[in-house]
Amino acid sequence: MQIFEQIAALRTQIGDWKAQGLSIGFVPTMGNLHDGHLSLVKMARERCDKVVASIFVNPLQFGPNEDFERYPRTFEDDCLKLQLASTDALFYPTVAEMYPHPQTQTRVVVADDITVVFEGATRPGHFDGVATVVSKLFNIVQPDIAIFGQKDFQQFAVIERMVEDLAMPITLIRAPIARDVDGLALSSRNQYLDAKQRQIAPKLYVALHDIAQALSSGNRNFSDLEKAATEQLLREGFNQVDYIRVVDPQTLAPASVDQREFAILAVARLGSTRLLDNILITAA
Ligand code: PAF
Repeated sequence: MQIFEQIAALRTQIGDWKAQGLSIGFVPTMGNLHDGHLSLVKMARERCDKVVASIFVNPLQFGPNEDFERYPRTFEDDCLKLQLASTDALFYPTVAEMYPHPQTQTRVVVADDITVVFEGATRPGHFDGVATVVSKLFNIVQPDIAIFGQKDFQQFAVIERMVEDLAMPITLIRAPIARDVDGLALSSRNQYLDAKQRQIAPKLYVALHDIAQALSSGNRNFSDLEKAATEQLLREGFNQVDYIRVVDPQTLAPASVDQREFAILAVARLGSTRLLDNILITAA
């Protein structure tokens, strides 16, 4: 696996591959890789001639009181995992390489209807940071396909909208959530949980699963289901439920009774750790 820290050098390599007619699959990450990330690399490997991953902890998408400084950075370990997963190239830029004008950085701002709700409401500016870095990474890597995990459901919706609105010639793939044996969605932030919190954490998936089952059996009392799940999570030991909502998977607007596809989005807190999870279902 070749490691590139400079945009220009990676561009030269990508140009060579493109000149040979090879397809490129791209997996952007912030590092601290777990099996969820590696499943994305595997999907890229199955679909493309060359696989490029990136590791960049993007300061633009963290708020002033968020975990940018303490976000786990495990470069050596990540390289080993990517190598074993047959990644061809890793892009590992510095902040200065990505943001040459840090005070006056050009930004990509995706429409408010999907960026100021849910995560955008709690983390103002977060999705501008994500859209900006992802569009820059797309410009650098110029992939045929790019793969993102379903766990960050809203992030995928935002990137999908950006790609459509800006006519970027890239096929996006939303990969299923990788889960631990007890159902907890894999996340780099799970390591912030202490032993007791780690035991409570999988109940978030149970709550989502209960709603999914109710929807599948025809229940359309969305707000009752959301309220019952919130109460259940607080009883189980979660400190706060930021939201648990049944929405339209494309627009993230509240679900309506006549639709068949639903996304159930949830964020709940254990101590200062926010756990995100979701389920996507097609009801009969
Ligand atoms: O999901 C992530 O890890 C990040 O938000 C991404 C897409 C790599 C952009 O920094």
